[in-house]
Amino acid sequence: MSTKKLQKEVTEQVPVAEETKLPEPRRSVAFIGSECYPFVKTGGLGDVMYALPKALIAQNIDVKVILPRYKCIPWKYQEKMVYRGEFVMNLCADGRSFYVGIMEYVWDGVVYDFIDNEEFFSWGNPYTNLVDDIPKFCFFGKAALAALNYMNWIPDIIHCHDWQAGLVPVYLRTLFEGTPVASAKTILTIHNLRFQGIYNIPTVRYWSGLPDYVFNYDALKQGNDDANMFKGGLAYADMITTVSNTYAGEIQTEFYGENLDAHLRYHSGKLRGIVNGIDVEMWDTATDPRLAVNYDASNVLEKKKENKRALQEELGLVQDENKFVIGLISRLTDQKGLDLVNAVIPSLIDEHTQFVVLGTGDARYEDSFRYYENCFKGSVCSNIMYDETRAHKIYAGADALLVPSLFEPCGLTQLIAMRYGTVPIVRETGGLKDTVEPYNQFTDEGNGFTFDRYEAGLLMDAIIRARNLYLDYRPSWDKMVVRDMNKDVSWDHSAKIYRDLYMELRP
Ligand code: ADP
Ligand code: GLC
Repeated sequence: MSTKKLQKEVTEQVPVAEETKLPEPRRSVAFIGSECYPFVKTGGLGDVMYALPKALIAQNIDVKVILPRYKCIPWKYQEKMVYRGEFVMNLCADGRSFYVGIMEYVWDGVVYDFIDNEEFFSWGNPYTNLVDDIPKFCFFGKAALAALNYMNWIPDIIHCHDWQAGLVPVYLRTLFEGTPVASAKTILTIHNLRFQGIYNIPTVRYWSGLPDYVFNYDALKQGNDDANMFKGGLAYADMITTVSNTYAGEIQTEFYGENLDAHLRYHSGKLRGIVNGIDVEMWDTATDPRLAVNYDASNVLEKKKENKRALQEELGLVQDENKFVIGLISRLTDQKGLDLVNAVIPSLIDEHTQFVVLGTGDARYEDSFRYYENCFKGSVCSNIMYDETRAHKIYAGADALLVPSLFEPCGLTQLIAMRYGTVPIVRETGGLKDTVEPYNQFTDEGNGFTFDRYEAGLLMDAIIRARNLYLDYRPSWDKMVVRDMNKDVSWDHSAKIYRDLYMELRP
């Protein structure tokens, strides 16, 4: 190697100290939640529980993730878990005691501690029905805190996620007062306010073993007879966050507040919106092993066509790289705007347009998508299944991705779509509004197509605008594809904001 070249390389190298410099001081956080990729995932919460801890490590945060050890966790992970200890814990109002085992798994610098108990976690999926889920998550919340004390790992912050971890802040300030873990501050993140863990007071009081005074209107009580686990957690947490700024505002209104809008307005002083990101290593078109061909922003326009053809072939669609392929990857529930999609499909499908859906959920949506596949053979493909590999292929092979949600706390599919050069078509709500800048035909700026009111006609209009651009003004479309691929959808920015928040609570 010539000296000149060597010199250049040496001067361009970042000094080691600089490269590994982490923000000071170090802080520690325990994540408590009910799902986490790759162990168990039903939706975006699983993605966040995986990706955010990874991003926080780069912010000099020591992270432990506490999860239930569900039986459905694949054996390849179970077999690598290491036994960390066990103890017996009182749970119910009558002092019934339960076994708590701790199994540990360390991966990518993150420590995962799984709470083991045959009675609660040995069957079914993470969520079954409230009769079983209420006791399960009472147990889990209390066991998670008891496990921290047992392991003598006392974090600065306990970061709880959704209603399944809702009782953690309540337990911490009641039954755990005076124990080591009570020195921690708590954050409760709302990923989805629709699910709250509501059941009659006697049942929740019995299983949680919590003192009577928490079952008042300021905390758990709701209506005449019910206890709401999320509501209690929101009252007792030191800080509440949700996964986008717009959703933070929306949930304080009656329409989006799921009966907790007044409670959230009351606590608005400690409520912040911090938008989600995605793990850009996991979602990387240049290395994704599931794609027909890998690509990046420099060759997306060519390579996407190849991915489209491969997708069309695999799904039995007419193979034509000039068709406008619209994807939809979603839980099939009311939240996701599927009644609008159902209403527009018959007028949407034409000789230029194909539609691919991937999802599972409510029978009426599963059935209607199957029905449309039958009506429009070769143009519509309904994949009524949960399949990670197929999801990656659709993100890469589709031209546009629909997210017309009724409400959307953040939404990750539009972020993944943009990273894969697939243009999102979204309703302006929650995180969709905060992450997709509408296309402006006069300035040729923006990342996708949007509509505001929840109406099928407006969704159709947005899709037509997208399709027209794709079919008739391809250079503008192509520029948007490249722009989307270059947009920063990583966790970098938001992980820093979480760090600042932890520092604010624990200066
Ligand atoms: P939500 O959490 O409300 O379901 P998000 O958009 O935040 O919505 O996250 C959904 C996540 O689940 C994304 O990673 C998406 O790719 C994935 N996903 C949803 N449905 C399926 C499916 N049927 N198969 C594979 N992945 C899916
Ligand atoms: C929820 C929301 C979704 C969000 C995800 C992760 O499931 O429905 O909008 O992206 O949580 O925060």
